[in-house]
Amino acid sequence: MAKPASTFGKNVELVGNWIDERTSFSSFWNKHLAQYYAPKNFNLWYFFGSLSLLVLVNQIVTGIFLTMHYKPDAELAFASIEFIMRDVEWGWLIRYMHSTGASLFFVVVYLHMLRALMYGSYQKPREIVWILGVTIYLVLMAESFMGYVLPWGQMSYWGAQVIISLFGAVPWIGDGLVEWIRGDYLIADATLNRFFALHVVALPLVLLMLVVLHLAALHEVGSNNPDGVEIKQNKDAAGRPRDGIPFHPYYTVKDIFGACFFLLIAAFIIFFWPEFGGYFLKPDNFVEANPLVTPDHIPPVWYFTPFYAILQAVPDKLMGVVLMGASVLILYLVPWLDRSPVKSIRYRSWMSKLALALFCVAFVRLGMLGLSQDSSTFELRLWTFIYFAFFILMPIWTSFEKTKSVPERVTY
Ligand code: HEM
Repeated sequence: MAKPASTFGKNVELVGNWIDERTSFSSFWNKHLAQYYAPKNFNLWYFFGSLSLLVLVNQIVTGIFLTMHYKPDAELAFASIEFIMRDVEWGWLIRYMHSTGASLFFVVVYLHMLRALMYGSYQKPREIVWILGVTIYLVLMAESFMGYVLPWGQMSYWGAQVIISLFGAVPWIGDGLVEWIRGDYLIADATLNRFFALHVVALPLVLLMLVVLHLAALHEVGSNNPDGVEIKQNKDAAGRPRDGIPFHPYYTVKDIFGACFFLLIAAFIIFFWPEFGGYFLKPDNFVEANPLVTPDHIPPVWYFTPFYAILQAVPDKLMGVVLMGASVLILYLVPWLDRSPVKSIRYRSWMSKLALALFCVAFVRLGMLGLSQDSSTFELRLWTFIYFAFFILMPIWTSFEKTKSVPERVTY
């Protein structure tokens, strides 16, 4: 005999029906989770999208709590961070979750971007997913740069000084532009106030909006996968992709497992090694900003150093700034630079594999050079050349290389 439904169960159903008649929540749930068919063959590389989302939420939540105690005033900012670290209950944890989260954000986003490069996820029909991704990356850089200024330590101050003065290289309007950004004749309270407003309100809103658009664009065309097979081209009689499985519960469970593993690593860093040897929080930033004392060496945080190295590769300031800007903006062109008929690196020749490997080595090496005080000019130029060659020569090798035939169905 069937067990009668409990009163609680019946009530939940009634409330559910009542909401359903008035909203489209359940169709949203079905469209994006329960009936969103994702390829069966996602591997570890597909963890980093959901991990980016997790870190984004962490940054927003911990950021809200930090804002409750932080003072955006050049006289008080540094002391308010010390207050959070020493006196606010659990303040040290919230602060370290936020500062570690910033670096881990870039770790997961860089791996997420590398995955897209490996599996050609930017190719037709996912160009807009990629373009929105690159825009997210740009906004994320602005967001973290402004956040870094807020503790008003020596590195905050002098790092901002170096980066803002780069705008001075713009012909004719450079000096006026620098003054306009700072809001004063030097980096001062006005600069801190505007960076606070942008870091806490404006840029997080833009980021959130871009992430929603990024996912909406992805769900319109469907996810790529490690084989680069379009699963929508092979559907069963009910119209479901044969190589697809519902995102919920299959990938929600998989992503929760990935999130737990990630949180273990994050917790280890937050509790035992939050400065991460000076890579996540620099010793100089535990000293209050002093406009009269310039630190010996002012390298940016690790995630900016590849671009900082490119800036240093040419002696001319304007050329350096142009090259540095180009090194990020060139990412927008990738969907059109890649001429390959296949998406995934699995079915490409040794040429694509070698090019991507060299590009990764160049990016890491540039990152190391950007951190060092006396990098060799030859090395800076060599790796900058290889970095750009990856993009500029892409149309050539992807047109000529011999590709393998892509299977009709996904493989395991
Ligand atoms: C806040 C930052 C970001 C968040 C929260 C985010 C989130 C996601 C999520 C949840 C997915 C689907 C799951 C997955 O494929 O892993 C995804 C896919 C994708 N993302 Fe992002 N993303 C971010 C930044 C970026 C950036 C910076 C790029 C590239 C420049 C990018 C490019 C892509 C591409 C091409 C896909 C489709 C991948 C495929 O189907 O193979 N994303 N993103």
